Amino acid sequence: MGILNGKTAVVTGSTSGIGLACARAFAGAGANIVLNGMGAPGEVENERASIESDFGVKAVYSPADMAKPNEIAELIALGEKTFSSVDVLVNNAGIQHVSPIEEFPVEKWDAIIAINLSSAFHAIRAAAPGMKRRGWGRIIMTASAHSLVASPFKSAYVAAKHGIAGLTKTVALEFARSKITCNCISPGYVWTPLVEKQIPNTMAARHMRRDQVISEVLLAAQPTKEFVTSEQVAALALFLCSDDAAQITGANLPIDGGWTAA
Ligand SMILES: NC(=O)c1ccc[n+]([C@@H]2O[C@H](COP(=O)([O-])OP(=O)(O)OC[C@H]3O[C@@H](n4cnc5c(N)ncnc54)[C@H](O)[C@@H]3O)[C@@H](O)[C@H]2O)c1
Repeated sequence: MGILNGKTAVVTGSTSGIGLACARAFAGAGANIVLNGMGAPGEVENERASIESDFGVKAVYSPADMAKPNEIAELIALGEKTFSSVDVLVNNAGIQHVSPIEEFPVEKWDAIIAINLSSAFHAIRAAAPGMKRRGWGRIIMTASAHSLVASPFKSAYVAAKHGIAGLTKTVALEFARSKITCNCISPGYVWTPLVEKQIPNTMAARHMRRDQVISEVLLAAQPTKEFVTSEQVAALALFLCSDDAAQITGANLPIDGGWTAA
């Protein structure tokens, strides 16, 4: 009997990286899954089918674009219609762009604020009525060490992640009497496509080689000198869904190899 048996988890941005690890961890605990994110249709279908066969749960996929409020509402509606409830919501979808402020493309700023911050508001707004009706819910945000500290050249990302930390606290307070918790997890660097993709821009912005970016920018911040793994983040997310975590709400939990302790 898994701790999420009979429950449904919607994980935004779950076609790769941290989101996919969360979806698989929740499925392993018995939850039906609503997958979401970009990706080649064949690869996404493989991930969806392997969640069903590996864990004996049901999984559906929604291509909803997290920059579009109406598609976010449809994502939550798909979960409620298919499985009768959305009990766990992980606001995880995110993108990155690295550039000095004067050169930061305005459309990249708008996209990062929409996908990394506003999408969480829209998803919570859509999922909350059902959670309140059923008297149970877990809302988890993938924030970042950049919700606690800043780095140069990441203005939009740092602004969005600090926003997520603030939204987490507000949601926790508003839903505190409804047995719905809301917390954010703040990973340091996790080796996922998001990190890999930002390396060329960081090389250009800082005039560095690839190996220098990894050792002098990415792992420089983490005293353990190791990347966090997606599975470690997913294990923390799963713990937040447990009864033992019922009194953890409004928290911002770093999992960053000591980065924000320094
Ligand atoms: N990798 C890290 O080092 C790190 C550290 C801290 C926080 N994070 C956060 O973790 C979250 C997941 O990132 P990741 O590292 O797993 O990266 P990733 O690139 O592997 O995953 C991002 C996911 O978001 C999806 N996505 C992107 N744009 C979307 C859109 N418009 N609509 C729907 N889905 C969209 C992608 O398809 C993918 O499924 C992000 O919010 C990121 O900011 C990552």
